[in-house]
Amino acid sequence: MTPTDPDYQRAVDLLLAGELVALPTETVYGLGADAANPAAVAKIFAAKGRPADHPLIVHLAGHDAVDHWAAQVPAVAWELMETFWPGPLTVILKKQDWVPDAVTGGQETVGLRVPGHPVALELLRRFSAVRGEHAGIAAPSANRFGRISPTCAAHVAEELGERVSLILEGGPCAVGIESTIVDCSRDEPVVLRPGHISPLHLAAVLGGLPAIETACGAPRVSGSLAAHYAPVTPMRLVTGERLLDFLNAQRHRGGRCAVISPNQPSQAGMPHVWRMLPADPVGYAHDLYAALRDMDHAGVDLIVVEAIPEAAEWAAIHDRLRRAVAGAGQTG
Ligand code: TXA
Ligand code: MG
Repeated sequence: MTPTDPDYQRAVDLLLAGELVALPTETVYGLGADAANPAAVAKIFAAKGRPADHPLIVHLAGHDAVDHWAAQVPAVAWELMETFWPGPLTVILKKQDWVPDAVTGGQETVGLRVPGHPVALELLRRFSAVRGEHAGIAAPSANRFGRISPTCAAHVAEELGERVSLILEGGPCAVGIESTIVDCSRDEPVVLRPGHISPLHLAAVLGGLPAIETACGAPRVSGSLAAHYAPVTPMRLVTGERLLDFLNAQRHRGGRCAVISPNQPSQAGMPHVWRMLPADPVGYAHDLYAALRDMDHAGVDLIVVEAIPEAAEWAAIHDRLRRAVAGAGQTG
């Protein structure tokens, strides 16, 4: 199998048989199962080690499938879906009665997304052709619970190995961080998880900036847990001004550091593990998870991330870095 030739037929057969298939999306790789098959969905939770009350996103081939899964879809949700699908936006809507608790975590809402990756879309189309036109693939990020989301097929293999029957190759993910989640089941839309589609993008459709509610610890969104998206190695955020002093102090103490910086190139005497990421939020998001994963394997005592700008365009990255720092260094 070559990267340009994903085995769609085998993927569809596995999904129909209630097995798991990892698939590329434009955000991160997902671990997919037939969303209408609770026994198949249960395998996702087992493979990830994820608590069963955490709801999953249902991926659809197109807008036509929305009414099959969601009830009372407000006009504003349709506008968001028309504008940003296929793409990195998840919309939370009131669910239809039949939607399994396994998918919704027992909640009255369901998260829907039409992904923007050609391999994901082709798989969804082929799956729908045999399973029914409104079929959905439930898919969380294809990592073990609390860990860094995979942004290429090799990361999925590293995270899940034998626990997934097939990994569809789709190259590196274009976006690199998880979708923006907007809850449209309430009176006003609320952002539950910031992402590539920023509040400013949403405002262009909504006519004003949406409320943002990313409270830590809320079980409704596992990505909103205080500790998430985390490497095993401890991690610290350090401001650009303090970075060199901080690293020197670590070196005197014999601590081995790996550094991620959007601004400063490595200098003589600095740690050999040093990664410059793009200094713009889109490029930075694209490379962040792969960089954290590399550094987690570098055999260092501490991952040092140079603090990034406070500007609104960096909000999704602040969110991921904050949670990664909170979860880093925990081995469980
Ligand atoms: O970009 C993405 O969204 C990726 C790709 C694979 O689509 N998926 C992803 O899934 O990040 P996951 O499960 O790692 O994160 C989905 C988030 C979870 O935090 C979950 O709690 C939330 O979406 N979610 C799903 N359904 C929900 C619902 N009904 N109400 C509130 N939050 C929901
Ligand atoms: Mg996840």
